[in-house]
Amino acid sequence: MEKIIVPLGTRSYPIHIGAGLLDSLGVYVREALGDITVAVVTDDNVAPLYLGRAVRSLQSAGLTVKSITLPHGETTKCLNRLSDLYNFLCHARITRRDAVIALGGGVIGDLTGLAAATFLRGVHFVQLPTTLLAQVDSSVGGKVAVDLPQGKNLVGAFYQPDLVLIDPDTLNTLTDEFWRDGLGEVVKYGCINDAALFALLEECAPGGREALMTRIETILQHCVQAKADVVAQDERDTGLRMTLNFGHTIAHAVETCQHYEGLRHGEAVSLGMHIITRLTEARGITAPGTADRLDALLTALNMPMQLPAIPEADLLAAMGMDKKSAGKTLRVIVLQEIGRCHIHPTDVSFFNGMTSA
Ligand code: NAD
Ligand code: GLY
Repeated sequence: MEKIIVPLGTRSYPIHIGAGLLDSLGVYVREALGDITVAVVTDDNVAPLYLGRAVRSLQSAGLTVKSITLPHGETTKCLNRLSDLYNFLCHARITRRDAVIALGGGVIGDLTGLAAATFLRGVHFVQLPTTLLAQVDSSVGGKVAVDLPQGKNLVGAFYQPDLVLIDPDTLNTLTDEFWRDGLGEVVKYGCINDAALFALLEECAPGGREALMTRIETILQHCVQAKADVVAQDERDTGLRMTLNFGHTIAHAVETCQHYEGLRHGEAVSLGMHIITRLTEARGITAPGTADRLDALLTALNMPMQLPAIPEADLLAAMGMDKKSAGKTLRVIVLQEIGRCHIHPTDVSFFNGMTSA
């Protein structure tokens, strides 16, 4: 069992990582927040797998429990479902001393977090992430949001949880598709600030998902610690936190051009990391051999590196619209070597020739 603190002064919070933690949810919530009512939010894939155990654990700890199950998928991260949650929280008579618990992947975490941030101007918030992506990324750092028809994550807040419990056993039921989705972000942490994690991934990757699962607690600790370190220094995403976007400029452009119906996010990040590192190594920004090492790991993990057939002009246009760009300046994250990166202010012309990289 590992405990990592996200150090944010009075809003600091613990992230516990350990197999079987789901069954201790009630004990942890009661210890952190006392004798309260909890509103559990989940989706219709996760509910049959884990909601019963979560509710039993909470009730055994003497807590009053209400729950709601929403449809799975990105379309749930919207204003209509947020409104459904407000109705549910009213009906459950949630007060400011009570808590909402997100039990699920990043969709449930982001939506529930925004409800927690805004209902009654803020109620307690607990995350029990059940996808690899949510365990290594979305449950850490307090970004909560819903999508608008005009784009992803356009209505949101920074709202840190009180507590995060990560139970790696929940990953056993994840489809290979969503497993690979999370792996893109895992590799990213190794690239940007954790060479030891990268080496561990290189060691396990040939054995596939099974081998990675034998070291999953260590892998999760590395990722969560890496993200916690970054968030502690730049909670509001004005500087260092942008390094978490390594591979994402290209990924977001690909996802936009494919209207979010092609590669999954983690796959697009894999592709983005591959292309940017090939480009920067060729330009002498990245140490020789880095791109080969990254490509070997991505290949061993069965992650995509092949750019779909999208005209380069369309990709460049999408990059120009990236919400992380400031005016014409695009802040691209580039590797110096495995485990070290920096923010490179540039413009979209930096990516000229990317489709042949
Ligand atoms: P998701 O929540 O849609 O989960 C993926 C699928 O897996 C869903 O169908 C879900 O029902 C299912 N599932 C969840 N846990 C399962 C389990 N243990 N076993 C079997 N099936 C399970 O998607 P995601 O990939 O977890 O998250 C993507 C979302 O996260 C996006 O909306 C993205 O914008 C957001 N995100 C947020 C942040 C942040 O910092 N807040 C960071 C990265 C991504
Ligand atoms: N997923 C990027 C961030 O949390 O900033």
